[in-house]
Amino acid sequence: MNKIAQIFDSLEYGPAPEAPDQAIAWLDSKSRKFGHFIDGKWTKPGKTFTADNPATGASLAEITDGTAADVDAAVKAARGAFKSWSALSGYERGKYLYAIARMIQKHSRLFAVLESMDNGKPIRETRDADIPLVARHFYHHAGWATHLSSQFPDHVPYGVCGQIIPWNFPLLMLAWKIAPALAAGNTVVLKPAEFTSLTALLFAEICERVGLPKGVVNIVTGEGDTGAAIVNHPDIDKIAFTGSTEVGKIIRAATAGSGKGLSLELGGKSPYVVFEDADLDSAVEGLVDAIWFNQGQVCCAGSRLLVQESIEERFIAKVKARMAKLRVGDPLDKSVDIGALVAPVQVERIRDLMKKGIAEGAHVYEPDFELPGGNCYLKPALVTNVSPANTLVAEEIFGPVLVAMSFRTPEEAVALANNTKYGLAATLWSENINLALDIAPKLKAGVIWINGTNNFDAAVGFGGYKESGFGREGGREGMSAYLKPAWEKTLKPAPAQAPVKAATANPLDTGSLDQTAKMYVGGKQARPDSGYNRPVLGPKGELVGEVGEGNRKDIRNAVEAARKALSWGTTAAHNRAQILYYLAENLDYRRDEFAARIKAQTGEDGREEVALSVERLFAFAGWADKYDGAVHNPPQRMIATALVEPLGVLGIVAPPSRPLLASVALLAPALAMGNTVVLVPSERSPLSVTDLYQVLETSDVPNGVINIVTGDSVTLAKTLAEHDGVDGLWFAGNAEASAMVEKASVGNLKQTWTSRGLYYDLADPRFAGDYFLSKATQVKNVWIPYGA
Ligand code: NAI
Ligand code: MG
Repeated sequence: MNKIAQIFDSLEYGPAPEAPDQAIAWLDSKSRKFGHFIDGKWTKPGKTFTADNPATGASLAEITDGTAADVDAAVKAARGAFKSWSALSGYERGKYLYAIARMIQKHSRLFAVLESMDNGKPIRETRDADIPLVARHFYHHAGWATHLSSQFPDHVPYGVCGQIIPWNFPLLMLAWKIAPALAAGNTVVLKPAEFTSLTALLFAEICERVGLPKGVVNIVTGEGDTGAAIVNHPDIDKIAFTGSTEVGKIIRAATAGSGKGLSLELGGKSPYVVFEDADLDSAVEGLVDAIWFNQGQVCCAGSRLLVQESIEERFIAKVKARMAKLRVGDPLDKSVDIGALVAPVQVERIRDLMKKGIAEGAHVYEPDFELPGGNCYLKPALVTNVSPANTLVAEEIFGPVLVAMSFRTPEEAVALANNTKYGLAATLWSENINLALDIAPKLKAGVIWINGTNNFDAAVGFGGYKESGFGREGGREGMSAYLKPAWEKTLKPAPAQAPVKAATANPLDTGSLDQTAKMYVGGKQARPDSGYNRPVLGPKGELVGEVGEGNRKDIRNAVEAARKALSWGTTAAHNRAQILYYLAENLDYRRDEFAARIKAQTGEDGREEVALSVERLFAFAGWADKYDGAVHNPPQRMIATALVEPLGVLGIVAPPSRPLLASVALLAPALAMGNTVVLVPSERSPLSVTDLYQVLETSDVPNGVINIVTGDSVTLAKTLAEHDGVDGLWFAGNAEASAMVEKASVGNLKQTWTSRGLYYDLADPRFAGDYFLSKATQVKNVWIPYGA
């Protein structure tokens, strides 16, 4: 047989190498040694580490390990550039972003090859996915810059943004961070990951070439310490991080109380659910993309296969057959599916996790082919025979390892899918659109792909639920993450409350009171677990009543009740609106009584406060069925529907003054959006809220939707912050306690809003809309393909 006939016979791929010449020429032109890019200039290289090619083990260049002084210089440059950059018109900034997009497109092959060499990922991916998405991101945000003032009126950029990115999508993560930051008028200090700095440095040169004003983009290379120096720098206004959940938690704790904006894109263990009526061959191809794309080093990798029992055997057989055909090899070979992992240390990490999983009972299947030589290659692996507690099921492996489990019913699929601390993405395969669209809202994840996987677009938000972080990148949500309301800087410190001294210190003196207000848990009045009450004093220290002294146990009961009531979030928005209208109406009936109670506790005429509270309930009843999402039209033949979903259980700790309005103003947006609430009312004047019980009952508020625990607000806030059953926490109080709340929230990375000792005039109409609605919700994007 001649050669061509042989190829036809075997259908073997020949080598299709991509030439590295241009990337090498660029590295050589820099003498393969880099300083930082600060204030539009290259610094002299300092102490360096090597940038390695994981496929060959060869060193590509020397990279400077940034010091705290380097970070400081970069922050100064960014601060210096901020004023004039943010003062440019959106159109002017948009033109720079457009120029960057054009340059990236023009040099896309150079970027793709350099990325592949530095990271080990196949050229097919960098060429067809990473770099085109980078360009798309800059184009998209050039448009946002242009329309910023009409789309985000009365908003301003944060200032200097510190941005820290991982190594799995080096240039793409840079684009996701830098494009929106610049569009909004921020300046940035960005640190690429230590394994993959090269395309960020090439990007710096693009910034130079397009004449981007100096100091607008600063690139500081280095390791974790350099990242920590950015996180802890006092003159940085916002931190945006993508990386491991572990480091994300360190950053959450480190920024607590600093007032820095924060967005976190963290790890995942995303389910890939295949129903029995799926197009199985397509689902297998999707699975290849879900878990073997980028060697599985993908935060949203579909790493947990959940397959319906009736098709399990058939599907697994197809997966194994497909695995045997995957081509592992030189990343610069255009017909390679799986390249090199990023570094030997990651390979070791994966092997250790596998050993642990096997010791716990897992079976591992690997196809029978030879791996190329070198330290960074792994075979694709399929893990079966695992319980939900197996390390390989619970932990993010970040490698080419798929873990498979089965389910019987759709309900079981949902329960298994959600049985993880993460919530980044999920994939569903079913030819039954009704089933798919029934399941999608039930999955706790920021992105859902139906009959497809790993779809991304700049116009569609991406980001996680739960310990996968908070904040979105892409789309309107991503844009708004780099802007804040202009009025925030006008906030003044909250006036100190003059202490009121009790007229009597003897607890037995309260015996003459005929009534002590109880707590309210799961629709029932409840006595405090502590067995103690606390006095409620009038303005002169006279006793006007008593409430329970709430403790940890009361909070736990209230959270449990709130979790049981979570179906509130999926009742029709119209029904939630109706109940809020009833609440308003029933409160209005009893306005005199509530006004008198305010007067007794605070000495103020309460009539206006009651009227404002009624109005606020009305306002949010009106919002319940209007604050919703968009339908995006990304370049793929898919629509992406942005669903606005509640956070879940929201803790609310109200400020002390204006005891009725303060609670209502925070409660109403939370309820309108479908959250269930554990409310700690004004610690000084809680009777205005404990008086609401009857109003709640006559308004048909379902049991457990509103739970009320009275007591010391800081103590109760701490318990709420530490509780993993609480998904979000709003706390009004002083700066020190606000810092405590933010720090204590790291356990499950709940989203927090704190007043940090500042005075928020909750009567202001600015709090009757988006401000709290956005904080009460998270956006889930559901991708749905079309095409016959
Ligand atoms: P990492 O989270 O340590 O690294 C991400 C970035 O954070 C890098 O730029 C790093 O220099 C920086 N960094 C590290 N410590 C820091 C600190 N204390 N303060 C500020 N910045 C800091 O991730 P690593 O160690 O590279 O990978 C370990 C594991 O993390 C992976 O196996 C994977 O499971 C997970 N990971 C997840 C990613 C995701 O996108 N979900 C991305 C990268 C890693
Ligand atoms: Mg490298």
